[in-house]
Amino acid sequence: MNDALKEIHDFLPCPTPKQWIDNALANQDLMLIDHAHCEKKAASTALSLMYRYVDNTRLLNKMSRLAREELRHFEQVLAIMKKRGVDYCHLTPARYAAGLRQQVRADDPGRLVDVLIVGAIIEARSCERFAALAPCLDDSLADFYSSLLKSEARHYKDYLTLAEQAAGNSIETRVSEFLAIEKELIEAPDTEFRFHSGPVSS
Ligand SMILES: [Fe+2]
Ligand SMILES: [Fe+2]
Repeated sequence: MNDALKEIHDFLPCPTPKQWIDNALANQDLMLIDHAHCEKKAASTALSLMYRYVDNTRLLNKMSRLAREELRHFEQVLAIMKKRGVDYCHLTPARYAAGLRQQVRADDPGRLVDVLIVGAIIEARSCERFAALAPCLDDSLADFYSSLLKSEARHYKDYLTLAEQAAGNSIETRVSEFLAIEKELIEAPDTEFRFHSGPVSS
């Protein structure tokens, strides 16, 4: 296991449940469609930060690059779906991102710190899931997911560093609060399978 992945496993509060991996393998078309939505939303979150915090040059540069990378991932997922004959369609979102964002403080600077911490957690979990899935997938999807986990690991780091800079002091306590919520969202039974859902019992 490489260092970046080890750091992500140390950061996250729990591994992805085995039941979720089984759900994903049994619903690969749905996983790809939801994955495409996730990449698009990741780009959109980065862009909205760029609209809101125009005086933060470091954030503007990091988010601009991140948005481009996420849109590139989006195009790559669409290409794989096309090859497999999977049509893109609307999906109801997982409870995951909304569950985390519910706890974001309303006013700045707390708001920015929280949004960046949530960004770091979502990137870390995506990375962990790509790594957990890759050994179980066919070669072409396994290669793609292995390539994605490297950029998501870097995005996790970028978000965490930006959060520390925005806070100006330790964010450890706040990160722990969000991770406790994340653990619940990842481990508690869910009703619909999504890329960031909890386990769905069949
Ligand atoms: Fe991505
Ligand atoms: Fe990302």
